[in-house]
Amino acid sequence: MYIQPYPENESNNQSIIRIIKNELKLNVKKLYRMEKKGAVKIWRAELARGKSLRIDNRAVGNSVYLQKLALKNGVNVPRVLYYKNIKISTWVNGEMLSNVFDDANAFIEVGRQLAKMNSIVDPSTGRCLTNSDMGITNFIYTKNKQIYIIDMNTMRLTRNPDSSICKMLLKRIRDPERNALILKGYGETRDTKKIIKAAEKLNWKWGHRGFRKNTSPCA
Ligand SMILES: Nc1ncnc2c1ncn2[C@@H]1O[C@H](COP(=O)(O)OP(=O)(O)O)[C@@H](O)[C@H]1O
Ligand SMILES: [Mg+2]
Repeated sequence: MYIQPYPENESNNQSIIRIIKNELKLNVKKLYRMEKKGAVKIWRAELARGKSLRIDNRAVGNSVYLQKLALKNGVNVPRVLYYKNIKISTWVNGEMLSNVFDDANAFIEVGRQLAKMNSIVDPSTGRCLTNSDMGITNFIYTKNKQIYIIDMNTMRLTRNPDSSICKMLLKRIRDPERNALILKGYGETRDTKKIIKAAEKLNWKWGHRGFRKNTSPCA
């Protein structure tokens, strides 16, 4: 599914407010454009009683489908309320993970969340849900002590979850201590032997060329 990018012009804000009013019957008190890296623009629309919505100027890839899949299987992500020319989902009120947990526990939690995702199999492709961007800022801890993954644009399906984790640790996280903590959380519910074996084979370093094409480190 591809959604037309929302056109950038001065009436953007008014159009967003109108869509929320017409489609969701909700009144926007204030609309904030969020600073964001990358091509996707996001806004926070403040409603009554401390509630907010997240607006994306377009839905990235199959994020709408993946968000539903995650929710259905008990992984907390924002719920999509509307998507057409823009995507509207829930805003999750809460604290950043780093405000609530110390570094060690935050990374263990990242590992737990990844394991939870990797255990979800998409019925239409047989692939597992994963997320390539598991930075601490992409999690929100709510008053009800729930952890939400809020950066849904990096969610994807993978044929080989072990290999995806291996790549994330070696290419993105890189720090040995953090890798160990993520694997600790992951290992509570899923096997980490193959991931560790593949990482060791590469000396825990992602080379310039990465893995050779078609060779999956954990296959
Ligand atoms: N649904 C949401 N609920 C709560 N906070 C959000 C939500 N979406 C985005 N944010 C806030 O905006 C920031 C940027 O959003 P994100 O989707 O992570 O974009 P980026 O690609 O810039 O990391 C997040 O770190 C978070 O603080
Ligand atoms: Mg983010």
